[in-house]
Amino acid sequence: MATALSADAQVGAIVTHHPVAASVFRHRRVDFCCNGRQTLATACAALALDPEELLAEVLEAEARQEPGAAPRDWTQAPLGELCAHIIGTHHAYLRVELPRLTLYIQKIAGVHGDEHPELAQIGQTFAALYAELEGHMAKEEQILFPMITSMETAAELNLSLPASHCGSVRNPIGQMEHEHDAAGGALRRMSELSDGYTVPEGGCATYRETYERLHHFEGDLFQHIHLENNILHPRAIELEASL
Ligand SMILES: [Fe+2]
Ligand SMILES: [Fe+2]
Repeated sequence: MATALSADAQVGAIVTHHPVAASVFRHRRVDFCCNGRQTLATACAALALDPEELLAEVLEAEARQEPGAAPRDWTQAPLGELCAHIIGTHHAYLRVELPRLTLYIQKIAGVHGDEHPELAQIGQTFAALYAELEGHMAKEEQILFPMITSMETAAELNLSLPASHCGSVRNPIGQMEHEHDAAGGALRRMSELSDGYTVPEGGCATYRETYERLHHFEGDLFQHIHLENNILHPRAIELEASL
C-alpha cells in the first residue's frame, strides 16, 4: 500500500495508502476528507505548515504501528464489501450516537447554557447535521450503494452497465459530496464554537464526556467521508467507465 508519500500527493490519497496519516492530519487540522483532492503542499501552505515535517510525522507514526495493526486496504477490496463496511461501521455508529449526543448536548446546555451561550449554537448546529445525515445515509443505502454493487456484479458477469434512473453514477456521487461539504462545515463550526472541544474551567464530568464524544464523532465522520470521497467514489466512477 505504501505509495503517494510526497508533498505533491493529494492528502486524501496519502491517507488512503498510509491510514495512520489520518490522525497526524487531524491533529494538524489538514482537511483530508472534504478537501482530500488538495495536495499536501497546498494544504500546508494555507496552514503555514512544513509538508516535510508532516511527512516525517506520518513515517514515524507508521514505524510505531504494531505489526498486523494495519487496517484493510480498501483500494483493493470489492466495492460491495466497502459499502457494507461503511453501513455496518459508520452508519451504525451514527444511528446510535446522533440521538445519544443530542441528549448529552441538551443536558450540558441546560446546566451551563447561561455561562456558555455557545452550547445553544452547538446544539442547533448538531440538530441540523443530525437531520441532514439521516436523509444522507438513506440516499446512500437506498440509491448510491445498490447502484455501485450492481455495477460491480455486472462487471463480474461481463455484462454491460445496468440501467439506472439516476443516469451516471457521477450524479448521486456529486450530490453526496455536496452534502459531505455541508457536514464538514458543521463539524468546523462546532469545533470553532467549542475551541476544539476544550472543556472550560468549571465544566462538570458530563461536559467533559459530551466534548469527548463530540470529538470522537468528528474523527469518525472524517474517516467515514474519507472512505466515500477518496476511495469509494473514485473507484465507482472508474468501474462505470470500464463497463
Ligand atoms: Fe455514508
Ligand atoms: Fe456520505
